[in-house]
Amino acid sequence: MARYEIKGGNPLQGTVTISGAKNAAVAILPAALLVKGKCRIENVPDISDVRILLSILEGLGATVEHPCDNVIVLDCSGISSTQPEAALVKKMRASYYLMGSLLGRFGKCHVALPGGCSFATRPIDQHIKGFKALGALVEETEEYVELAAGKNGLQGNRVCLDMASVGATANIMMAAVLLPGQTFIENAAKEPHIVDLANFLNTMGAQVTGAGTDTIKIKGVEQLQGGTYAIIPDQIEAGTYMAAVTAAGGDVLVKNVIPKHMDCITSKLEEMGAEVINYDDAIRVRSTGKLHSTTVKTRPYPGFPTDMQAQICVCMALAEGISHLTESVYETRFFGYCTELESMGAKIEINGKTATVTGRNHLKGSTVCARDLRAGAALVIAGLSAEGITRVENIHFVERGYENLIEKLTALGATIRRIDD
Ligand code: UD1
Repeated sequence: MARYEIKGGNPLQGTVTISGAKNAAVAILPAALLVKGKCRIENVPDISDVRILLSILEGLGATVEHPCDNVIVLDCSGISSTQPEAALVKKMRASYYLMGSLLGRFGKCHVALPGGCSFATRPIDQHIKGFKALGALVEETEEYVELAAGKNGLQGNRVCLDMASVGATANIMMAAVLLPGQTFIENAAKEPHIVDLANFLNTMGAQVTGAGTDTIKIKGVEQLQGGTYAIIPDQIEAGTYMAAVTAAGGDVLVKNVIPKHMDCITSKLEEMGAEVINYDDAIRVRSTGKLHSTTVKTRPYPGFPTDMQAQICVCMALAEGISHLTESVYETRFFGYCTELESMGAKIEINGKTATVTGRNHLKGSTVCARDLRAGAALVIAGLSAEGITRVENIHFVERGYENLIEKLTALGATIRRIDD
């Protein structure tokens, strides 16, 4: 099993360019399945989740070209199968988007239940509720979900989500764009990648309005045609590098970001003592050498993202004083990394949804194990900040979501290598 070996203690210096957003890419690629024609998709991150999705689409009959780095030309016109390969679907969470896109295009599908990061029970009842509202009959087992148009066919409808689920919002949007009538998604998620998905669909001819607010309106169209679209920069990858500079020290220009998407993360890092300067499409983060404690509660966008919980926890572990970190999206997420951080010297007490972190002025290298994608990223940050050598095992999780992590960190002066056993 591959692992990272990190020699900590080097401050990070220089420039890092952020890749396209993983969570947007893993929604937009399945959405391309709704399009009859060639979609040229730019700024696609080269990460394992994207590679798996492309294999699934090829298996269904799509043609995939890579004219150059980070650009994919996808033609799903020839797809006829509605049953993606279960073994591949189970490898990642976002494969659940195939349900919405296949249902939208073909009126039916048979999709294995997804895998991916298991930092919590991750139900899909809201996705199913949406599909049913659009007229789908649903057969759900422990292994798969089968959807088919009911006797009145599929048509637009009003769906009010019980919680602002990112996955359900995107899935219902995909299922609805080609249906007759209008669909309203109430209590919709507002994450940047929801807006990106809507922008992609609209570029291809859909009529989606309101993305980024809590009501999304979809006016069904008969067909989507091909076009060119560039994926937004990855908010969480950018936040991860910003947290790394805050924890390990240094001065880094984080390029290819949308500073507005970073506001909530930026303000917490500033509170902790980092200096942050926003430019049009870049952010400079400079550590001042001193970290202060803070209080963070994760929330749906525009709140502090749950996907940055573990990374900010490392900053808290190194800050002066006691910090409080409350998780309100996935309660069990702390268990993915807190014990590992403790083995590096962090002092963390978990009580229900809140972790109380008593800061120390240093962490020490250790052998730690990534249990999910963001937990793995946090352990890398901890390794960069720690004295001595840290070995991060189970790095396939990290590789699901961070493009060229080793190259990017090495260019910033980190001592990190990937070891294949
Ligand atoms: C997406 C992101 C993930 C991020 C999360 C929260 C992708 C591929 N993944 O995951 O990186 O951590 O948003 O920002 O974009 N829920 C239900 N029933 C449902 C759906 C969700 O109870 O049908 C609950 C979940 O258990 C969770 C909350 O709602 O507590 C939010 O989930 P959701 O926004 O759907 O997250 P994901 O789409 O799984």
